Amino acid sequence: TKDILALGLETSCDDTAAAVVLRRGDGSCRILSNEVWTQHDDHAAFGGVVPEIAARSHVERLDATIEKAVVKAGVDYADLDLVAATAGPGLVGGVMVGLTTAKAIALAHGVRLVPVNHLEGHALSARMTEDAPFPYLLLLISGGHTQLIRVSGVGKYDRLGTTIDDAAGECFDKTAKLLGLGAPGGPKVESAAVGGRTDRFALPRPLLKHAGCDFSFSGMKTAVREAAQSLEDPTPQDIADLAASFQEAAARHLAHRTERAMDLMPEAKRLVVAGGVAANCAIKKMLQQLCAAKSWALIAPPPKYCTDNGAMIAWAGAERLAAGLAMEPEEALGLAPRA
Ligand code: KG4
Ligand code: ZN
Repeated sequence: TKDILALGLETSCDDTAAAVVLRRGDGSCRILSNEVWTQHDDHAAFGGVVPEIAARSHVERLDATIEKAVVKAGVDYADLDLVAATAGPGLVGGVMVGLTTAKAIALAHGVRLVPVNHLEGHALSARMTEDAPFPYLLLLISGGHTQLIRVSGVGKYDRLGTTIDDAAGECFDKTAKLLGLGAPGGPKVESAAVGGRTDRFALPRPLLKHAGCDFSFSGMKTAVREAAQSLEDPTPQDIADLAASFQEAAARHLAHRTERAMDLMPEAKRLVVAGGVAANCAIKKMLQQLCAAKSWALIAPPPKYCTDNGAMIAWAGAERLAAGLAMEPEEALGLAPRA
């Protein structure tokens, strides 16, 4: 196969992102640019992502973000082999903005449009920077998703487990709110936990006796709320202890369910973590211990490729095209009915 130059757009949540990625014929990857304009400040006053504000911010910023990515990469639109955009799942307003913009670029420059599933973007992202041959077990932990997926190839995914209530990242964000740490929750909880005791608060161990690989975080969320309310005038040490206890409990739960999934595909020997929560060092450390005990390799890409970014969307588009799985151009543009 030949080299594929791909522009990727990601607008499904609160990051406006664009990147240019080169997939070489040998399957290797070069990230030529990776621009992310995070909207944290736009939503800060509301204590969570407001879909309407997110969609408007994407409209205002996407063009400039794309232009920056293209200029930094030193390429011309006409050189692109494809433009990929997140087509869902996500906040529908943002998805529409990204997809429509990608369509306009495709039509204006005669470039192929490849719609990409956001989860597939996360699922394949490790292959940009790490040696991650198929098959591998993927632990996808983000603000919207908590899943264990067997990845056997491009387009070949089997879900082994998912959360039955809240996502892991959501639980970090909620905990940050309860502790008055603000947004973005995950990193705030992680820094607050430094110097905290992990055993001061007894938090639940969800689904300990349940078969399967599903997750549950709602009980932990409730327990953190009750613990936070039991503290009158919490000191910085109280906050650190609760943040550390929660982080430990979340990591333990993730590792426990991951271990079950490992037993379902013992031949894989590779665990890939992706999604924003994969940036968490305490979680990575616990997964590292688990992998060491089972003689598996833990593959953890750099945090900037774990959180939402355009490079993973460009890369997934290029991987799909190389694998012969990209949608036909006319069909992608909605100009011709499916055969
Ligand atoms: O993958 P991502 O950027 O967006 C989604 O697709 O959801 O993940 C965002 C989530 C947020 O919930 C954020 O709090 C969490 O990832 N997160 C973290 C850390 N950094 C980001 N959670 C725990 N520890 C972190 N260091
Ligand atoms: Zn994501």
